[in-house]
Amino acid sequence: MALLDRAIVRALPAVPRRLVRALASPYIAGPSLEDAVDVVRQLNARGQAATIDVLGEEITREDEARAICRAYHEVLARIGAEALRSGISVKPTALGLELDYAFCRENLRSVVEDAAARGRFVRIDMEDASTTDDTLRLHRELRAGGHANVGVVLQARLRRTLADAAGLANVRLCKGIYLEPPSIAYQDAEEIRDSFRATLRALLDDGAYVGIATHDETLIEDALDQIRERRLSPEQYEFQMLLGVRSARGDELVRDGHRLRIYVPFGTHWYEYSVRRLQENPAIAGYVAADVMRRLVRR
Ligand code: FDA
Repeated sequence: MALLDRAIVRALPAVPRRLVRALASPYIAGPSLEDAVDVVRQLNARGQAATIDVLGEEITREDEARAICRAYHEVLARIGAEALRSGISVKPTALGLELDYAFCRENLRSVVEDAAARGRFVRIDMEDASTTDDTLRLHRELRAGGHANVGVVLQARLRRTLADAAGLANVRLCKGIYLEPPSIAYQDAEEIRDSFRATLRALLDDGAYVGIATHDETLIEDALDQIRERRLSPEQYEFQMLLGVRSARGDELVRDGHRLRIYVPFGTHWYEYSVRRLQENPAIAGYVAADVMRRLVRR
């Protein structure tokens, strides 16, 4: 990315919320559960599964965490009633991890039990590195408690990830969106890719079910090679993508017989997620610059 583009991307938090919202609209189903259900119905009709995320993170009040927990129960009831092909993705800090570990674990347990009763899967999203230990512990404790319908996320960016992969049965593998310091994270794009490839290899060697969550063509091709080498059948892995990103490539993967799951966020706490997505969009600097120019010209 050019120097000017990088500066614009870093300045995104200073961009008006109205513009952030407009630019980020393809990445978010909408403010209501109804919007998410509509999007999942359309994805299902195209042969794609979903995982629904109730937007919200770094919650600092118990009542807010409880409200998000209730929202997940509503999601589970609705996807059950509509027989949609979808699970849910949950951020520990949305369920109160920053307030109290045990409070968060209880909220998460209630969601996981509800999901199990309805035959649904719960993916625990991975947030910044200050939460990695607690998130892996939440996952470990739930699995040890007999909850097989729960899985975790590993971030190739973190140096610890290959070691964390050992013994996990169901993992979403991604690069990791949170920028972490060099002491704990790879900074170089090629090193992050190498870590992704090595972790995928280790997980597949171990017989884990992997959600291969990337839009990076090099990594998709590498994963396809690993799948072919091992003669895996389509039930033994899946590709995962974010709503609004490289959907044509997603359709192609499905046409070629692979499973694909799309991450579908909805809700009113759209801001933080939107900024993260925009910072990854290679075209974003151009959009933002064009908007600034339009406003200058109008003046
Ligand atoms: P990269 O960012 O290099 O993108 C590859 C190409 O994809 C780009 O060149 C571009 O063409 C396209 N692209 C990517 N992002 C785009 C965008 N926003 N708009 C337009 N085009 C775009 N992270 C995390 O830390 N914890 C988590 O729990 C999750 N969960 C998660 C679930 C799923 C289903 C996915 C796909 C991703 C995540 N992530 C995540 C995010 C992940 O860590 C990573 O930040 C993004 O997927 C971008 O990395 P890529 O591997 O796609 O490569």
